[in-house]
Amino acid sequence: MESKKEIVIVSAVRTPFSKFDTAMADIASIDLGVMVMKEVIERVGVRPEEVDDISYGSCVPAEVALELDVPARQASLLAGFPAENISLSLDRACCSSLTCVRLGVWAIKAGEAQIVMAAGAENMPRTPHLAPGLRKGQRLGHIRLVDPLFELGYTAKGFNPVAKDAGEVALEYGVDRQMQDAWALGSQEKYAKARQEGKFKIGEELMPVVIPQKKGDPVVIEEDESPRKTSMEALSKLKPVYGSPTVTAGNAPTMGAGASAILMMPADMAQKRGIKPLASIVTVVASATVPREIATIPAFTIQKALDRAGLTIDDMDLIEINEAFAAMPLVSTKILAKGDEKKWKELQNKTNVNGGAIAIGHPVGASAARITMTMAYELRRRGGGYGVAAICGGLAQGEAIIIKV
Ligand SMILES: CC(C)(COP(=O)(O)OP(=O)(O)OC[C@H]1O[C@@H](n2cnc3c(N)ncnc32)[C@H](O)[C@@H]1OP(=O)(O)O)[C@@H](O)C(=O)NCCC(=O)NCCS
Repeated sequence: MESKKEIVIVSAVRTPFSKFDTAMADIASIDLGVMVMKEVIERVGVRPEEVDDISYGSCVPAEVALELDVPARQASLLAGFPAENISLSLDRACCSSLTCVRLGVWAIKAGEAQIVMAAGAENMPRTPHLAPGLRKGQRLGHIRLVDPLFELGYTAKGFNPVAKDAGEVALEYGVDRQMQDAWALGSQEKYAKARQEGKFKIGEELMPVVIPQKKGDPVVIEEDESPRKTSMEALSKLKPVYGSPTVTAGNAPTMGAGASAILMMPADMAQKRGIKPLASIVTVVASATVPREIATIPAFTIQKALDRAGLTIDDMDLIEINEAFAAMPLVSTKILAKGDEKKWKELQNKTNVNGGAIAIGHPVGASAARITMTMAYELRRRGGGYGVAAICGGLAQGEAIIIKV
C-alpha cells in the first residue's frame, strides 16, 4: 500500500545550459554531473554518506560511452559519495531526470531510502561520431561515420524525427507555424525579463561552472548561453528542419550541455534537520503513447498526475511544459483546455512564465529536473501555490510532477 509520508525537495540546483560551440562543450557530462551532485547536498549540509540512493539520467549514450556507460556510479564516486552508495544510471529520453525523481519518491515511500538524489546530465555537443563496423577492419574503401545527434538517431530504426511528428500533429491540432514562432518569441522575451529581474541567479537555481585554463584565470560560466534576441520577422524566415512542416532552429531549443540535481527526503526529517523545504511533492507519474503523438503526451501525463492527486488544472498556479519544441506547450495546453479557447489562453499564460527550453536550452537528460526546479523557485517567489511540470521524451514518453510550495 502506498505510504502517505510527505516527501519534500530540500535542494535543487543546475549548471547554466550551454550553446553548441562553447567552453562547456568540452566538459564530460559526467563531470557536469559531479558538480551538481556535490553542490546540491552542500547547500543543505547533507553529507555524501547520508544519501541512500542516487538515480542519474542521461540519454545521449554515445557521449557517455566516451567515459564508460555507468555514469551514475562514476559520477557518485568522483563526487565523493562512499563506495557503498547505491546508484542507478537510466535513460528515459528527455524524461530521465524526472524519472529519477519518481524512483526516489518510490524508494522513500517503500521505506528503502530516506535521503535520495535525482540527477541528470548531458553534453550533446561533445557527442562523437560513430564508425560502425570499423572493429572488423577496413580492407578497402571509405569509412562510414554516423552522427548520433542527427535526428537524435530516431530514423535509424524507421521512426520519424521528433520534429516531424511534433510539427505534423501540431497542425492537426490547429497550432500553426506562426503560433509556434510567437510562442518561441514569447519564450525568449519572458526569459530575458526574468533574467533582468534577477531570477536565474547563482545560489538559487544556478551554480557556476568553473573551467580551469592551462594559463591564466579560469573560465567561469554563470549564465545560460542560448537565449537570444529575435523577432517574428526573423523567426518567420527560418527554414523548417528534419522534414518538419513547422519546426525551425528558432522555435526549437539548441543542443547544449548542462546538469541538474534535486535532493529529497521525508518532510519530518527535513524539519528535524532544520532544513526549510523548497517544495512538497504531491505526485509524480509517467505515461506513454504512440510515437507520433509526442506533442500531446505532456497533456495526458499532466491529466494523469491531476487525477492521481485529486486536483484539476485550475488548481495549478503554474505550469511548466518542456519546450522540446514550441509545439509541445501549445498543443498540450490546448488539450488541457478541452476546446475552450479562453481557457486555452489562460493556461498558456501560466505556462513557462519565465521562458522555457527555447531560450534556456535543452541538454536532454538535465531538462526534466530543470523545469521542476524552475517552477519550484518561481512558486516560492510568489509566496507558494501548486505547480505541475511535464516533459515529453523520445517516441512519446511522458513524465509529470505536481508540487506544492
Ligand atoms: C534546430 C537545430 C537543427 C538547429 O541547429 P543549427 O542549425 O546548428 O542551429 P543554429 O543555432 O546554427 O541556427 C540555424 C540558423 O538559424 C538562426 N536562428 C536560430 N534561432 C534563431 C532565432 N530565434 N531567431 C532568428 N534566427 C535564429 C541562426 O542564426 C542560424 O542562422 P545562420 O544559418 O544564418 O547562421 C538544432 O538546434 C536541433 O536539432 N535542435 C533540436 C534539438 C532536439 O531535437 N531536442 C530534443 C527534442 S525531443
